[in-house]
Amino acid sequence: MTTRIIYYNQRGEGVGIYQNKPIYIPFSILNEEIEFEIVEEKEKYYIGKLKKLISPSINRNYNLPKNYEFIGGYELIHMNKEAEKEYKIYNLINTFKKIANIDLKIEDINYFQGEKELRYRNKITLFDGGLKKKKSNEIYYLDDFLLTNIKPQSTKKGKIIIRDLETRIEGHKKENLYTFDSLEDLRFKVSIGSFYQVNKEVCLYVYNKIKELIPKNKDILDLYSGIGTIAAFISNKSQSVTAVEINDSSFKDFIYNIELNNLKNITPVKQDVYKFLKNTQNNFFDVFVVDPDRTGLKKEVVKEISRLLPEKIIYLSCNIATQANDINLLKENYNIEYIEIVNMFPKTFHIENLILLNKK
Ligand SMILES: C[S@@+](CC[C@H](N)C(=O)[O-])C[C@H]1O[C@@H](n2cnc3c(N)ncnc32)[C@H](O)[C@@H]1O
Repeated sequence: MTTRIIYYNQRGEGVGIYQNKPIYIPFSILNEEIEFEIVEEKEKYYIGKLKKLISPSINRNYNLPKNYEFIGGYELIHMNKEAEKEYKIYNLINTFKKIANIDLKIEDINYFQGEKELRYRNKITLFDGGLKKKKSNEIYYLDDFLLTNIKPQSTKKGKIIIRDLETRIEGHKKENLYTFDSLEDLRFKVSIGSFYQVNKEVCLYVYNKIKELIPKNKDILDLYSGIGTIAAFISNKSQSVTAVEINDSSFKDFIYNIELNNLKNITPVKQDVYKFLKNTQNNFFDVFVVDPDRTGLKKEVVKEISRLLPEKIIYLSCNIATQANDINLLKENYNIEYIEIVNMFPKTFHIENLILLNKK
């Protein structure tokens, strides 16, 4: 059986048509003509497996690592950076159309690709000393995982985090282990259980971009602040930065990092973002910077933001579906002023997206 790949689904799989139903074929590229076999039939679609390339894309990468089909993180390993960019922009446009009914123009979408397409991750999570097979409990003990220089093996059992920054730390997220990392002239304590961006090159780029998008001498509210990296970055351009974070480990590092960098105009708040906003009667802040986890802001937080109506919102997201959903609820009061995919997770289907919203 053969088909041509005519679009992509959310997981970066090529989609063809077979017997009037979509067929999702991992590791295929737009416009490729391929031979496939059926793995599973679902009610609304098929799942297929690539058997042979009839007309391969010129943007195909043939240098594939061992077990790439089974390990999470290699979804786009068969694409070069042009194909990956095409997929990520395509998926952003489709997601915003489908979820928010917003028509993003291709020429308005900026895209940042760092130098490193592989070996960019400074953190890895292992299960029983190895990498977990997708949708299974099987463990792979590999010598190399191309997305990081960290060897994907450990002698420790259970869920283990390894971070490779100034020094290498390895342990459970509740252990009292920490290291440091420098971003330009700032230095940060990073505990094993805290949030820290995994790709330093892209992280630096996006923090500088956020700083550039913020007007000078404003009062900023940094929501979901982690260990305070964004707050610290924008501190010397701002009148004040109030930053809200709920996680114990991240918040402790945040307090430490304010001292370490001698930052005088940052007010850290350990609270749930929703509760913080709910208790804010009058909006004193000019700009909100929000960087939530994959679940997004959700309705109740958006509702509070819509009540407080800051002039600008800078929204950094690692999940464009929840971002589109939140922006759908904000679009009555805000215009999208700037949009940029920053490729934080090359070779994976994950899309990190930065949006600047201006009040109408
Ligand atoms: C994607 S990280 C962003 C961290 C930081 N902006 C950075 O660039 O490193 C999201 C952060 O939001 C925090 N968080 C999640 N839900 C929260 C909530 N309801 N209230 C406050 N913080 C929350 C998490 O603990 C995590 O540190």
